[in-house]
Amino acid sequence: MPTTLADFQRVEEYLHAHQQDFIEKLKTFLRIESVSADSKFIPEVKRAAEFVEQELASAGLETTIYETAGHPIVYGSWLKAEGAPTVMVYGHYDVQPADPYHLWKTPPFEPDIRDGHIYARGATDDKGQMLTHVNSAASWLKVVGELPVNVKFVIEGEEEVGSDNLEKFLNEHQEMLKSDIAVVSDTSQFAPGVPAITYGLRGITACEIKLTGPAQDLHSGLFGGSVANPVNVLAKLIASLHDADGHVQIPGFYEDVLPLSEEERTQLGDLPFDEAALFDALGVSAGYGESGFSTLERRWARPTCDVNGIWGGYQGEGPKTIIPSEAGAKISFRLVPNQNAEKINASLKTFLQNQCPPGIKFSYQQFHGCGGLVFDPNSGWMKSASAAIEHAFGVAPVFIREGGSIPVVSTFKEVLGIDTLLLGWGQTTDNLHSPNERFSLEGYRQGTLASARLWHELASL
Ligand code: BES
Ligand code: MN
Ligand code: MN
Repeated sequence: MPTTLADFQRVEEYLHAHQQDFIEKLKTFLRIESVSADSKFIPEVKRAAEFVEQELASAGLETTIYETAGHPIVYGSWLKAEGAPTVMVYGHYDVQPADPYHLWKTPPFEPDIRDGHIYARGATDDKGQMLTHVNSAASWLKVVGELPVNVKFVIEGEEEVGSDNLEKFLNEHQEMLKSDIAVVSDTSQFAPGVPAITYGLRGITACEIKLTGPAQDLHSGLFGGSVANPVNVLAKLIASLHDADGHVQIPGFYEDVLPLSEEERTQLGDLPFDEAALFDALGVSAGYGESGFSTLERRWARPTCDVNGIWGGYQGEGPKTIIPSEAGAKISFRLVPNQNAEKINASLKTFLQNQCPPGIKFSYQQFHGCGGLVFDPNSGWMKSASAAIEHAFGVAPVFIREGGSIPVVSTFKEVLGIDTLLLGWGQTTDNLHSPNERFSLEGYRQGTLASARLWHELASL
């Protein structure tokens, strides 16, 4: 039997009465140290996968844990809503490393509730946000005994390291994973009190470069001036990446960039953006970026090049007069729709290599990546999501793009041919990937309610 609005209302009451239980569940999840990047946490990553599997199973879904070459993928489905759409829910149970630990006010894996937020690594990215959908599905099945739509949960453990094995999983299980739309809560609201639907994400490509000079560090007095210094050269290479106006100098970098339409620029310009408050929260006295674009355009719709780390030479106390043997850097690029990662890497490699003087060996390694994308903000799916959010948050969401990347979203499009509803319950000031990560309890509550309502709204599409 199709579910009704009255069914939803019973679910809403249940959610209201059980908010404390959901908070306890999130705390248990956050105590698991599921850092995907660092092999010493492998047993903890496994424990997180098992936690998710148990939650989905006890909610009433059929579950399987799929082993991969890396961390496991948890799958859970409930497919008894005959004739109703099938919704793929994606999330990730892995988290970023908690370093630097000493900057945390309370330990990263001992969740602490203060000023209306729960503080822990993974609170907003993505354990808390992901659980909202588990909670809402569990509540529907508990109270009503069925869901308004069919659901397929894919919860992975390698998002923070590039989702390499997930792509293979999606390709190998296309039939099982067939869905009409995907839902992902792994982004942010626009601002406190301003919920958002994200209709675009930037992509990413990244690399590591290494410059090798003399076979070992040399005395800079005996040999300085007569051989190339890898750290000097590296600094020159990095300085060549941008011009004085913040434009990236790699040949062809902007060639395929999808430009912003005047209409979209106006829409972004109309958002209630408090730029001063954002920079204040970030601890910077002013913004900086590509000239000719606003801060939101720079963050969401323009490609970037950033050095993520740099090393070489002596870093200890006091002076040490050497010519270092080696220098290196990690560089990442945020990409916008139509840019091609392979083309950019090839151009970058040649651009840098050509600048190296004789005596420097240049090596280049390309990392994971994914393309940028934009969805149609006017689709029926978007309207359903908007109605669900309006019910839960009391105001309609604004439509935004985001600068971060969620690799699977482009894979969903390529492999399954489906769009994704990016419904973020977090805030940009939640310190994701940073010390003192947090998630507001109100966002957790409203997100769970919006998710419960979303199933109801999507059933009629
Ligand atoms: N949840 C984030 C991405 C995000 C956050 C998008 C907020 C928009 C708003 C995700 O977990 C993430 O950190 N992605 C990585 C992907 C990379 C490791 C391939 C990123 O963007 O750096
Ligand atoms: Mn995330
Ligand atoms: Mn992340």
